[in-house]
Amino acid sequence: MFLWKKTKKNQIRLDPNNIPCHIAIIMDGNGRWAKKRGLPRTAGHGAGADTLVKIARHAYDLGVKCLTVYAFSTENWKRPQEEVSNLMNLCMKRLPQIVDLMEHRKVAVRFLGDRSRLPAPLVKMMEDEEARTAEYSKTGCFLNIALNYGGRDELIFAVREIAKKVQQNEISLEAVNEELISAHLYTAHCPDPDLVLRPSGEIRISNFLLWQSAYSEFYYDNILWPDFSEKDLERAILTYQGRNRRFGGV
Ligand code: FPP
Repeated sequence: MFLWKKTKKNQIRLDPNNIPCHIAIIMDGNGRWAKKRGLPRTAGHGAGADTLVKIARHAYDLGVKCLTVYAFSTENWKRPQEEVSNLMNLCMKRLPQIVDLMEHRKVAVRFLGDRSRLPAPLVKMMEDEEARTAEYSKTGCFLNIALNYGGRDELIFAVREIAKKVQQNEISLEAVNEELISAHLYTAHCPDPDLVLRPSGEIRISNFLLWQSAYSEFYYDNILWPDFSEKDLERAILTYQGRNRRFGGV
């Protein structure tokens, strides 16, 4: 069965009926991109933010409903203080523009992760930006920005919440199942990712969406995130469309 084909002009033609509903991206390679150009790492993150805008725009145009991007992990605090501050400032600077774009496309913006360690002005901005696009939740289109996010941290948070409810007799122990755990994750509003992309040549999951990616398709690419283009996204989706998802069946 042919799900896709290339057109005469070598343009990628995707099967519109098999666009992944949810794509998650590890935006990796910013530092190397900057180093290659003799620039500071922060210039790489800035270029990475430009790529995020470009790729988000194209993803929703193609019919993707949820996009989740890994902007700062619970492990990224180990980076030099200057880089961490720069990343926080970059978020403050670029979020309004990104949310403007989402508002225009009727996409709701959500932040995934533990906000307690983030700078207060950034948290305030995140809350305001979520509120600004909250009405679009009904469209089912989301941009999830993972900020101080860790898959293990998320599971600890969910287990604690569930344990509290069991302790207070709000739910029985027998009620704890996959659906209940999923409903206690930061991503409760979205289906699990169909496709997880990691550019830059690294082939690991790095504590990203550990529970949710149990049956995701993975796509790795050598391109550094700031160089990742709309065509690269299409290539990834094309590869996805050629996969045979069996979810453990035959
Ligand atoms: C990993 O590349 C990238 C990050 C830790 C930061 C990603 C953040 C952005 C792209 C900006 C997002 C902006 C907003 C507003 C959400 P790396 O630095 O580890 O690259 P390297 O492996 O080449 O060193």
